[in-house]
Amino acid sequence: MLTDHSGNSVQIARDYLDSLLVESRIVGAVKPDTTFSFLGKTFRTPLLTAALSHIDLVGMAEGARLAGACVSIGMGDNDEFGQVLATGAKVIKIIKPYADPEEVLSRIAFARDHGALAVGMDVEHAVNVEDAEDSLVAGFQMKQPTQEDLSRYIRASSLPFFIKGALSVTDALRCRDLGAAGVILSHHNGLMKFAVPPVMILPEIRKAVGPDFFLIADGSIESGFDAFKALARGADAVTMGRALMSPLKENGADGVRDVLLKATAQLQAMMIRTGSKNLKDIDPSVIWEPVLYRPCATR
Ligand SMILES: Cc1cc2nc3c(=O)[nH]c(=O)nc-3n(C[C@H](O)[C@H](O)[C@H](O)COP(=O)(O)O)c2cc1C
Repeated sequence: MLTDHSGNSVQIARDYLDSLLVESRIVGAVKPDTTFSFLGKTFRTPLLTAALSHIDLVGMAEGARLAGACVSIGMGDNDEFGQVLATGAKVIKIIKPYADPEEVLSRIAFARDHGALAVGMDVEHAVNVEDAEDSLVAGFQMKQPTQEDLSRYIRASSLPFFIKGALSVTDALRCRDLGAAGVILSHHNGLMKFAVPPVMILPEIRKAVGPDFFLIADGSIESGFDAFKALARGADAVTMGRALMSPLKENGADGVRDVLLKATAQLQAMMIRTGSKNLKDIDPSVIWEPVLYRPCATR
């Protein structure tokens, strides 16, 4: 029986995550290691903060740093971004698809010159939800970047570049061919109606791009159990966004740290129960999915 979500991609993604079941392989299991090696750095966890904005980004970054996690951040001015970097957190700055290429390039230059770990662009936030017009975001005019635009930004960055919003094999391969380091699979809280859940399409994308292209799953990750499912289906890492917002508001950086540490413990719990020694050792075949959806045609 299919549920009517009326095109609410957030709910569809949530329900899909909950529909995935996990088989137990606990006999002889050893204590798992959640260490995440990423872009030459070592993190305690493959959980990242999502590219949020209009919140206390400094508190968010500090919380992630305390938890040993990598940070991605979204829109905001360079002043705030500088304060985020000053926490010592390792930061991926996701830059908006501004209509003015100079705006993009100057923000890339700031990130590069001030020690960001990587940059990226949320290409899924350039046009409106209900029509094909360019979006106005917090007073800034956006424009859907062309492949030439993206190639220019990637070349200009000289940092690893992540394209946020790729959600198909076609897009992921295009991003790889353009020179991106990886993609953040995202529908940005339902900016696309009826979006295929990132965790649903992950195995197809992983198969197409191979093992060395970073795939970060974004959207509706609320626990380490969700994170485990995404990792088992081919993600290198996952982001948590809304799940961190109330803890940040209520307890600041400590609230963010506590959620990330709890989710990492849950991930570790799932790893020991599936006989996964480390992140690379998670076997995709521990996941059982309901056979409700199939691609329409083979590629
Ligand atoms: C308050 C808020 C602000 C956001 N700002 C940005 C942003 O500036 N850039 C961006 O790429 N995504 C932004 N996002 C989207 C998140 O990065 C993420 O894609 C989305 O929230 C889904 O993840 P979640 O279900 O874990 O929250 C924002 C989301 C929220 C809730």
